[in-house]
Amino acid sequence: MTDVMKALRRMHNLERLATEVYRVQTGAFREEKELSDRLHAAKLKEQEHIDNLKARIEELGGGTSGLGMGFQKAGKTLGMITRLLGKNTMLRTDIRIEEKAIKDYSAFLGKVDFDAKSRALIEKNAEDERLHARRWQDFIEMLKHRQVLQQGKEQG
Ligand SMILES: [Fe+2]
Ligand SMILES: [Fe+2]
Repeated sequence: MTDVMKALRRMHNLERLATEVYRVQTGAFREEKELSDRLHAAKLKEQEHIDNLKARIEELGGGTSGLGMGFQKAGKTLGMITRLLGKNTMLRTDIRIEEKAIKDYSAFLGKVDFDAKSRALIEKNAEDERLHARRWQDFIEMLKHRQVLQQGKEQG
């Protein structure tokens, strides 16, 4: 198997994990409509990454990895655990997942000799992950701000 194919399959597996994490987290905080909607949007974006990687793997004559279901299951477990830990910890974990993806994407871009189309696809996906990480960071700031306001109110 070529390095290109190995890299695409590896990323496809990690996208399956991320998609499942967001799928499980969506709806965990129904009272927080904006957060719920954003998690759902992230899930759709990760699904797009799964689809574009799978399409590229197949265009290059390969097939997706047999380990995909394992990654999906791991994502489900991780999603369930993190939603129990509360918004803050959940978002911090999501940032870590995104940072891992960004790191992997950059590492592959640095060492694998991709064709132009695969390279463009990976760069686009990595850019989406950067947006996700930034968005969760903004949410954490917002929650912190809200908490300070709340404490101010309680202290009269
Ligand atoms: Fe992704
Ligand atoms: Fe992402």
